[in-house]
Amino acid sequence: MKDMLDEFRVTDAPFWRQTSDEVELFTAAWDARIPVMLKGPTGCGKTRFVEHMAWRLGRPLVTVACNEDMTASDLVGRYLLDADGTRWQDGPLTFAARHGAICYLDEVVEARQDTTVAIHPLTDDRRVLPLEKKGELLQAHPDFLIVISYNPGYQSLMKDLKQSTKQRFAAMNFTWPEGETEAEILAHEAGIDSETAGKLVEIGARSRNLKGHGLDEGVSTRMLIHAGRLIKGGIAPRAACSMALVNSITDDPDMRDALDAAVATWF
Ligand SMILES: Nc1ncnc2c1ncn2[C@@H]1O[C@H](COP(=O)(O)OP(=O)(O)O)[C@@H](O)[C@H]1O
Ligand SMILES: [Mg+2]
Repeated sequence: MKDMLDEFRVTDAPFWRQTSDEVELFTAAWDARIPVMLKGPTGCGKTRFVEHMAWRLGRPLVTVACNEDMTASDLVGRYLLDADGTRWQDGPLTFAARHGAICYLDEVVEARQDTTVAIHPLTDDRRVLPLEKKGELLQAHPDFLIVISYNPGYQSLMKDLKQSTKQRFAAMNFTWPEGETEAEILAHEAGIDSETAGKLVEIGARSRNLKGHGLDEGVSTRMLIHAGRLIKGGIAPRAACSMALVNSITDDPDMRDALDAAVATWF
């Protein structure tokens, strides 16, 4: 069993450039075993932050990318048929609760609400998980913690989290890192010089001002890193920005022109 857990250990420190007091806050929630919700747009660092914190706290990390086809059994577990008959297999949530890992449910609103409620009993004081099919009431390991990520931006009312789910979590808001910080992140992640990183940050800021004026979302830190990596790989900066930023964020020709013009003022 130890070996199975080893697979989920974060052994190399994931790079995290602190932006505020997020490390301290997450650590306090961990100490108190309060479930944590990370809120913010896609590509702003939520997943990287959890990886970093799992490493810092020395806990294995079990990540589940949520989607709407996911069932409660996918999270909790099921009986499998094999040559010797049936055998129970823990799902990722059960595995994490049993062995004391951090369970990270990425983009939790993508899951259907009847799936999401499977986490409720683990997030009350009792910290239990009823495995009904197996007839087991699992008491969570003392080091188990549940973390979810959630992008409040483009959800319809139908696809929002229930209040009964939301209210079980302490929430941390993530946004785009402030200019100089984001430039440092780009330089580190893409291996580019700070001048190029600074220009990409300016283009990012420009695009973020267009949010709600033709763009649903601004260019993310992740996209800026992609542009930086293409530049690092020898692609001309304008072409790199078209490919990694402009063409991926919009299908609208006018918007594309506006963004290309922003790119051209810097590169
Ligand atoms: N504060 C930060 N420190 C280090 N890297 C960061 C930071 N913020 C964002 N990143 C970078 O941005 C990329 C995208 O972030 P990610 O965690 O995948 O976003 P999310 O999970 O919010 O969609 C990461 O792979 C990482 O390279
Ligand atoms: Mg993520």
